[in-house]
Amino acid sequence: MVVMITILPKKTQITLIILFLLTFHLQLLQAQGKCNTGCQLALASYYVWEGSNPTYISNIFGEDIAQILLYNPNIPNQNTIPSDTRISIPFSCDCLNGDFLGHTFTYETQFGDTYEKVASFAFANLTTEDWVRRVNIYEPTRIPDYAFINVTVNCSCGDRHISRDYGLFTTYPLRPAQNLSSVAAEAGVAPQSLQRYNPGTNFSAGTGLVFVPARDQSGNYPPLKTSTGDRVLTLLTIASCFKISEYE
Ligand SMILES: *[C@@H]1O[C@H](CO)[C@@H](O)[C@H](O)[C@H]1NC(C)=O
Ligand SMILES: *[C@@H]1O[C@H](CO)[C@@H](O)[C@H](O)[C@H]1NC(C)=O
Ligand SMILES: *[C@@H]1O[C@H](CO)[C@@H](O)[C@H](O)[C@H]1NC(C)=O
Ligand SMILES: *[C@@H]1O[C@H](CO)[C@@H](O)[C@H](O)[C@H]1NC(C)=O
Ligand SMILES: *[C@@H]1O[C@H](CO)[C@@H](O)[C@H](O)[C@H]1NC(C)=O
Repeated sequence: MVVMITILPKKTQITLIILFLLTFHLQLLQAQGKCNTGCQLALASYYVWEGSNPTYISNIFGEDIAQILLYNPNIPNQNTIPSDTRISIPFSCDCLNGDFLGHTFTYETQFGDTYEKVASFAFANLTTEDWVRRVNIYEPTRIPDYAFINVTVNCSCGDRHISRDYGLFTTYPLRPAQNLSSVAAEAGVAPQSLQRYNPGTNFSAGTGLVFVPARDQSGNYPPLKTSTGDRVLTLLTIASCFKISEYE
């Protein structure tokens, strides 16, 4: 490799070094858990509690009921969403502050709301009190009524180091009586694979968020798309090849 590089023209050497540094930089970014980009689609597994209804859920997520039903083929129409079941809500998974993947929803507080209530009921444990508190300016004891607050729900776009087979993920709050095998069976994926996407997670804990591979509208698991990082690198490589041939 070194021999090969030294026989190349000087400008080509420089291009290769720059390319190497860029690759290194991108890998470093990924290793720190920073994101470059999100993905257009992620799902949220919403536990339909008694008293919530399709209109309420549609308002919370700012998404049409018809659009939501597309991801829930087992629910024929909006009048038949039973409580104590889960429904999948589509949302866009964004790279927030270049730091992590999530989506910030805007929620209008109701009389007597607390961050805890908003996280565990309005958003059905798709987020936590702590995480809501951290994205709002209001002190937990001074949340105004009928004010708009941020509610950030984390998400995943997949991980090429684990598998390229899965590119759509559900943000899934665990509930009591579940375990790794039951969640894996429900999702139709191998338990080992599910655990790898959620390292260190105790699926029997009865609480906590996990990311679960999901099916799209047509019932297929969409594969992982090449990330922008990869694409930038490919473009740079192609561009530098042109440059190299120009110099020569
Ligand atoms: C959210 O979690 C809390 C504590 O585990 C539980 O009491 C509550 O019922 C959960 N909310 C929903 C909508 O399932
Ligand atoms: C969401 O992700 C951020 C960044 O990784 C993390 O600090 C936070 O605890 C997560 N929130 C939840 C509710 O899991
Ligand atoms: C919601 O988040 C935005 C962007 O970070 C911030 O400017 C705004 O103040 C937040 N809203 C509240 C109520 O804290
Ligand atoms: C996992 O949960 C399912 C359903 O709740 C139950 O039937 C099964 O025995 C549990 N498995 C283990 C290993 O606990
Ligand atoms: C997982 O959580 C359950 C319920 O809290 C607990 O009984 C079990 O010991 C935990 N398993 C591990 C490996 O920590």
